[in-house]
Amino acid sequence: MFSGAGPQLIVRVEEAVARLRAGQVLALPTETVYGLAARADRPEAVDRIFALKGRPATNPLIVHVADLTMLEPWTAALEPRARKLAQAFWPGPLTLVLPAREEVSRRITAGQATVALRLPGHPMMQEVIRALGVAVVAPSANRSTRVSPTRAVHVLDQFSGEDLAVLDGGACAVGLESTIVAVLPDETLRLLRPGLLTAPALAAVAGEPVLEGDGALVRAPGQLSLHYAPNVPVRLVETPTESDLRDSGVGWLTPGLALSATGPVQDLGSDAVTYARALYDALHTMDGKGLRVLHVLMPPRGGAWDAVHDRLRRAAAPRKDSRSAGP
Ligand code: TXA
Ligand code: MG
Repeated sequence: MFSGAGPQLIVRVEEAVARLRAGQVLALPTETVYGLAARADRPEAVDRIFALKGRPATNPLIVHVADLTMLEPWTAALEPRARKLAQAFWPGPLTLVLPAREEVSRRITAGQATVALRLPGHPMMQEVIRALGVAVVAPSANRSTRVSPTRAVHVLDQFSGEDLAVLDGGACAVGLESTIVAVLPDETLRLLRPGLLTAPALAAVAGEPVLEGDGALVRAPGQLSLHYAPNVPVRLVETPTESDLRDSGVGWLTPGLALSATGPVQDLGSDAVTYARALYDALHTMDGKGLRVLHVLMPPRGGAWDAVHDRLRRAAAPRKDSRSAGP
């Protein structure tokens, strides 16, 4: 094969479907972030996702469907709590972790007896899955521990040199990964990953509380502390110092306030939904500026902001490796 190929943008749903049908891996748009997708019934394609991402085999994948009938091979009939959540929030940025049928590939679930299922809201993603007629596994289309892509160009940048097609579906409307909740028999509902859909919103529909953290029965192994990290070191700051404001090597992300600084400033707004939509794109952009450090001024807390804080905390987590700010 021609070795200098590199990733390639495609715009037609039919071409994406043909590639998946042939067992290829490609990046697809969802309303949350772009996913690195393969048909769920092709073990070699699933393996290639893990290889491309550099993802440990211990970290399971989300299975994406286009309607409720496609859940059948994956899990038994939905219990009432799961049914209520699915009816209220699908299609949308919610992933349900449910009991997996015996036959479900343990490669996809990373050996667990549960499977993560999601019915995404992006019309192109739905069209692809419907036309394919088979569920699609799709982790976020970033290299492991790096920032998730919310535009096709972010995928092209991270996978330069790889022979990978990216279906361009525009900028993701939500911009943060789906909320993950475990709905397991005789277990309290568990929030495994915060998202813009909050625990109280889920609890109101399910009719019972949603506890934070994974409890004894479930693992969300993807929640490593270093995650969502750009190359440039990220620091969360409450109040900017005068010397940092005068330093051209310091970039800034602000939550709805005008900052006068020598380095680049991007204001992501004072509303959690708007901020979340812009965050990853801002991290990708700031990463390209050769900064020494990126300072993120602390946004408010509570409600949908909790998902933003979760991602910021991980982006700023201390690094064990020696990744530098680049040339
Ligand atoms: O918004 C999203 O969910 C995006 C789009 C592409 O759909 N996908 C995504 O996938 O964020 P990924 O692989 O980057 O994150 C999936 C998370 C991981 O933390 C993984 O450990 C967890 O879901 N997960 C998957 N299957 C699970 C299971 N059976 N039990 C517990 N956690 C699971
Ligand atoms: Mg991810």
